[in-house]
Amino acid sequence: SRVTKKALKDANIQLSQIDAITPTYGPGLVGALLVGLSYAKSLAFANNIPLVGVNHITGHIAANYITYKELEPPFLCVMMSGGNTQIISVKNYTEFEVLGKTRDDAIGEAFDKVARVVGLGYPGGPKVDKLAQQGQPNIELPKTHFDTETLDFSFSGIKTAVINLHHKQPDINKADLCASFEKNVTETLLHNVEKAIKKTGLKTIALAGGVSANTHIREEFEKLGQKLNVQIYKPDLKLCTDNAAMIGSAGYYRYLHGDISDNTLNAVPNLKIGE
Ligand code: KG4
Repeated sequence: SRVTKKALKDANIQLSQIDAITPTYGPGLVGALLVGLSYAKSLAFANNIPLVGVNHITGHIAANYITYKELEPPFLCVMMSGGNTQIISVKNYTEFEVLGKTRDDAIGEAFDKVARVVGLGYPGGPKVDKLAQQGQPNIELPKTHFDTETLDFSFSGIKTAVINLHHKQPDINKADLCASFEKNVTETLLHNVEKAIKKTGLKTIALAGGVSANTHIREEFEKLGQKLNVQIYKPDLKLCTDNAAMIGSAGYYRYLHGDISDNTLNAVPNLKIGE
């Protein structure tokens, strides 16, 4: 409740002026979800304010609406976080279709694991990003995209390849290794996103999730946008990683759509998009 009080004070509004309370109910760790959900439910019930449950992933997508008032569905969203890597067709503000997803590790997990192995610490993404800028992508790594029609990803192979290489050659140039890893996973991302654009004919791409803060990935998506004549939206860096504003943004559109939850709303740790 301390956070709620501070948020109301910072926004200079009263609780009675709030239209809806929009907790995340999944996906995520059940303990964390339950803490937020229980508090939100009691606050909504006690103050007679509508409750609107939000899917965490749709929050990452909706982070873009905060930065870009002109952005409207339909568009393609490339969701890249510590727990997810998905290409999502955003049909309207509340309807989504997953076109491709990772079959094993999320891209953020691969960044974090590479960072740990080369000794950069956690969370590794930002550290790999920084070190890669001082290196050259001159180390050969296995190609990691599928040569089929699928829009799915696999990031466990590249992660293992980097780990093995570092074990075999402990004095390998770390900056070059990070740059090569980034180049490899970015190529994989772009390969599938290009296929998704050709398949759907969409003219807009929005990036989402913590990994969309990555400097190299942002640059390469900009180039892809020029190549395909597609507009690229990149959320504000501070809105890329987990935050409450993006959940509020997603909840706002569900509220407008009339998707009010009842007080039996429960945490769903493996909640899928579109449920
Ligand atoms: O979306 P997020 O904050 O949390 C969820 O997973 O929901 O994403 C966190 C992930 C972590 O794996 C972190 O290492 C990665 O985003 N990350 C980055 C960068 N900043 C955060 N990865 C690469 N480059 C970055 N600049």
